[in-house]
Amino acid sequence: MIAIIGGSGADEIIEMADSIEKQTVDTEYGSVEVTLMSIGDKTVAFLPRHSEGHSVPPHKINFKANIMALKNIGVTQIIATNAVGSLDLDIGPGSFVIIDDFLDFTVNRERTFFDDKVVHMDMSEPLCNRLRNVILSHGDCVSGGLVDGGTTVCTEGPRFETPAEIKFFKMIGGTVVGMTSLPELVLAREAEMCYASISIVTNYGTSISPDILSMEEVYEVMEVKKQELVKLLLETIDDLGDDECTCQHALGED
Ligand code: HPA
Repeated sequence: MIAIIGGSGADEIIEMADSIEKQTVDTEYGSVEVTLMSIGDKTVAFLPRHSEGHSVPPHKINFKANIMALKNIGVTQIIATNAVGSLDLDIGPGSFVIIDDFLDFTVNRERTFFDDKVVHMDMSEPLCNRLRNVILSHGDCVSGGLVDGGTTVCTEGPRFETPAEIKFFKMIGGTVVGMTSLPELVLAREAEMCYASISIVTNYGTSISPDILSMEEVYEVMEVKKQELVKLLLETIDDLGDDECTCQHALGED
């Protein structure tokens, strides 16, 4: 099964489903509300990352419960959407970046399923390239196309970054900065699920543009881009099969 973990904007996809069914999934880390959508001949799980009504801030998201809930209902591939700020003047607000790497600057999150077992996950291909390539092949859904590759810097939040932080993140190779991709994508790999992110640029990082950064700016860009995002998700879902992938054997135990 395919799942969408949606940040702001992506929940519009629920309107496009032929039918929906809400389900509460209990896990050892907590309970999670998931909406099962029928889209064409597929069942797709939708999980709002910040819970219903966008009520949970990034640093309080129960990432372990979210990923385990999807695993428990049989999800094998996850398409995430993340709002991000850009560190690159050439990648402006409204751009969609299909990231291929990350820098983890979170400081206070439950980051692994392996607290009682020594497991060192390989991260030489941090995002699923098979899934990334299917998304990238539908770039014509988005005006301006998709940016193929980029490094997301994940901060703890909930505050935005300082000018010095943005300068530093840019210097060490970051392309975009957000608060929600980690540890989500690592937990998905630990749970042997394919994971790719559509990172939507809602603003330039602090001090890259002279304007003061506000939440309104972030929501305004998402509002304008959400139709394109839904189209990209629907075309990608339509194209995705039940493909076997190395991500689904990441622990090397089967
Ligand atoms: N920084 C961190 N998170 C974000 C930003 C940003 O500039 N924009 C959207 N989410």
